[in-house]
Amino acid sequence: MAPSRNESRTPTSWWRAGVIYQIYPRSFQDTNGDGIGDLPGVTARLDYLASLGIDAIWLSPFYPSPMADFGYDVADYEDVDPIFGTLPDFDALVAAAHERDIRVIIDLVPNHTSDAHPWFKEARASRDNPRRDWYIWRDPGPDGGPPNNWLSEFGGSAWTLDPTTGQYYYHAFLDRQPDLNWRNPQVVAAIHDVMRFWLARGVDGFRVDVIWHLMKDAQFRDNPPNPDYRAGTNPYFKLLPVHTTDLEEVQDVVAGLRRVVDDYPDRLLIGEIYLPIERLVAYYGADLSGAHLPFNFALLETAWEARAVERLVARYEAALPKGGWPNWVLGNHDRPRIHKRVGPDQARVAAMLLLTLRGTPTLYYGDEIGMAQVDIPPDRIQDPYEKNVPGIGMGRDGVRTPMQWDAGPFGGFSTVEPWLPLAPDFTEVNVAAEQGDPDSMLTLHRRLLVARRLHPALAEGAYVPLAAEGDLLLFRREREGERCLVALNFGGDPILAQVPEARGRVLASTFCDRDEEPVNGEIALRGHEGVILLCA
Ligand code: NOJ
Ligand code: CA
Repeated sequence: MAPSRNESRTPTSWWRAGVIYQIYPRSFQDTNGDGIGDLPGVTARLDYLASLGIDAIWLSPFYPSPMADFGYDVADYEDVDPIFGTLPDFDALVAAAHERDIRVIIDLVPNHTSDAHPWFKEARASRDNPRRDWYIWRDPGPDGGPPNNWLSEFGGSAWTLDPTTGQYYYHAFLDRQPDLNWRNPQVVAAIHDVMRFWLARGVDGFRVDVIWHLMKDAQFRDNPPNPDYRAGTNPYFKLLPVHTTDLEEVQDVVAGLRRVVDDYPDRLLIGEIYLPIERLVAYYGADLSGAHLPFNFALLETAWEARAVERLVARYEAALPKGGWPNWVLGNHDRPRIHKRVGPDQARVAAMLLLTLRGTPTLYYGDEIGMAQVDIPPDRIQDPYEKNVPGIGMGRDGVRTPMQWDAGPFGGFSTVEPWLPLAPDFTEVNVAAEQGDPDSMLTLHRRLLVARRLHPALAEGAYVPLAAEGDLLLFRREREGERCLVALNFGGDPILAQVPEARGRVLASTFCDRDEEPVNGEIALRGHEGVILLCA
């Protein structure tokens, strides 16, 4: 186990003050010249991650897979796909990360397997196969069509007919991703064993894929129509998925996953959940018996306005169960980059927000250098979601492009044309160029991460809202006598705010140029500027 990096952290709470960094392994670093990132590539870049100052990496799936959904279709839960390397490569990565005090969180995909998983191959072999009930099978409806109206998130019916056995199987995503039957105790035991396999190898936790999907209605009732469905949005939302997601019974399943994790010291359980805040917080579980961190994606969907963000934080803080630790996310491999959503200037303000709100932040690879959403030419589209539901798949390829390391061929990512195109601006926006630049996006991230480490008020302090007026968002973080003020300008015009308690000095500006500037009751912000003040 990696030791705590500083003494103010108890061994069981590294993830409270810690910052998580998501790596999409296909796109981080290629080491064998096939244009696809791999695990030795992650290992090779650990010194960069250590110097950035993050505490943990979360690796998207690297398991053997036909790659129909780029690894979220797992064919073997206990191995590494040859594209990404070998199990010894994984062990070497964990050891090298731990040497640098970086924890390793892996993706657990328990809702579905690949159709190439031996479990599914057995299940579909015959109706009386012992593994038949590991998946969700139903007879055709009266018209010979699907058994009910359930829809796949990736387009069309969620049911596919298996011609050999004459029954339909359920898949919340692609037909090549059949859902496991979590009502079968053997499935529960098998996934718990998978978790123990990786925990014993030293992983520090799991990010659990689509955890709110794990249970479906035992009676297979139709989902009702969604009266608020808007034409042009994902047809999946034509129905309200009340019988396919977020069932009360799923909480027992989550608590079961948590018990496995709790058998090992100091490990973390994160749940992927796209739900309104009031439902999301249920995933902390009764008496905090659920996920340590149910991923909070609300910032991905909120209007980029000071008041809207303040209201969101207030709603989230109010909804958290007692003792439940918050968390915030600005980007991931499924949603457009923050750089596109708010623009490059506000992306700096967003970084300061992410790293100063109360709660564990998750940074998406490349956001720390200001990587843009990349327009993917039609002939290079890879994402099955985009192919199935064109224009609605949310441009997932564009947020998964190769990490931009330097201005050399293929951005230092590979020696050959990568699996997805590099951003056209990679010769300017890259780690090497930003490394020595005193006000680059990378420098800003490094400085914010240092500030969190040096000032426990920022990492673990209480959050006190002070103002949200016009483009100004102002809040305080405080802990054991230390007080920091965070002032963010969500617009392009300067702001001059009289704030009697703002007395002290500037710790950081998003422009990286105001260190130590004294502040006496007045905060001056340039357009698109955020500052952190340390109160005297
Ligand atoms: C959520 C993952 O983040 C996404 O990339 C994937 O396509 C679906 N789950 C299905 O596994
Ligand atoms: Ca490779």
